[in-house]
Amino acid sequence: MTLATGNDVELRGVTKRYGPILALDTFSLQVGAGEFFTLLGPSGCGKTTALRSIAGFITLNAGEVFLKGTRVTDLPPHRRRVGMVFQHYALFPHRTVAQNVAFGLRMQKVPKGEIADRVEKTLALVQLPRYAGRFPRQLSGGEQQRVALARALVTRPTVLLLDEPLGALDKKLRERMQVELKRLQREVGITTIYVTHDQEEALTMSDRIAVMQSGRIEQVGTPLEIYECPQSAFVADFIGNINLLRGTVIGHAEHQAAVDCRGAKLRIGALPGAVAPEAVMALRPEKVRLNPSEPLDNDLAATVVHLVYLGDSVLYHLRSDEGIELQALELAQAGGVRHQAGTRVRVGWRSEDASLLPLTSSPLPRGERLGEGG
Ligand SMILES: Nc1ncnc2c1ncn2[C@@H]1O[C@H](COP(=O)(O)OP(=O)(O)OP(=O)(O)O)[C@@H](O)[C@H]1O
Ligand SMILES: [Mg+2]
Repeated sequence: MTLATGNDVELRGVTKRYGPILALDTFSLQVGAGEFFTLLGPSGCGKTTALRSIAGFITLNAGEVFLKGTRVTDLPPHRRRVGMVFQHYALFPHRTVAQNVAFGLRMQKVPKGEIADRVEKTLALVQLPRYAGRFPRQLSGGEQQRVALARALVTRPTVLLLDEPLGALDKKLRERMQVELKRLQREVGITTIYVTHDQEEALTMSDRIAVMQSGRIEQVGTPLEIYECPQSAFVADFIGNINLLRGTVIGHAEHQAAVDCRGAKLRIGALPGAVAPEAVMALRPEKVRLNPSEPLDNDLAATVVHLVYLGDSVLYHLRSDEGIELQALELAQAGGVRHQAGTRVRVGWRSEDASLLPLTSSPLPRGERLGEGG
């Protein structure tokens, strides 16, 4: 019954159905001790269901859950030593901050004096030392979020599960809380599974990220691996802005491939998977250079269709003479925008900055955006 896996959290082949909906589809996951692990994916892909299956709030159709190497699949939530912050903080409105935080300890029948002491220490940890007597409605969103966090931490769980804990906060506060949450997690050293659909948040906070789609994991890796070496067009497009150009492979060697895209021969230097005859070239807009000073492996003549000024950078929408649509991101120059709409430019990129991905049948997250245009 007990299998030492060396992981704090392990899910094996977990399947959860709601009627006809397959919320988790033979879902497997391993999270190491002290890791900050993020589940990232679009709405409805099964992130909350994955957390609920770890916490024990749902009955699985198949699969096993292990915490610290112990099988907990049939244990009720209160016997799993898991702390969870829900997507909507779910504080008790008619209880004070201190009573909210004390709740789990009262359930565990911890002695009164110890409860008071632990509540005080945990409120200090989340930087709300003088808030014990207030009610949730008297707190800002960020403060309520910290109370929810304190309530989860006070029971000293083995694993902390955070379901979009910053989702309701405005951008500024959200960024501040990201830093704070990360500091807290390091300080306590607690294994954390974090859910978000915000890719920037996932990239900045996580040790590893699992990108999910339709109840399954598409790819697991460090933020750098996921960003630099996406293994599918879905992951590439979900993580940041990217050019996806569909084409026909006309030749490939170990680390090189050439793809025909609308009659242009594009050279690709990163081949993360097997090469199929029809494929997608993925290229980050920040790797595309306009009028490069030295010749690059890929070089197209194009026109600036329109541009978006983003303050610190400019995003150019381009169309090559072959009809290939591309985006290029340039840091804004002191003089402002370098190329106006309608300008003719040379567009270049290095072959090693482009990767070749299989053509997936799965839908792309923001609609069909393959740059071939047809
Ligand atoms: N109690 C339920 N009854 C029926 N269907 C459910 C239930 N809970 C979740 N689902 C369905 O299961 C799928 C996965 O839901 P889940 O809440 O895990 O998604 P999510 O990734 O957390 O999405 P979001 O980012 O919107 O919170 C969805 O299609 C959802 O409609
Ligand atoms: Mg959810």
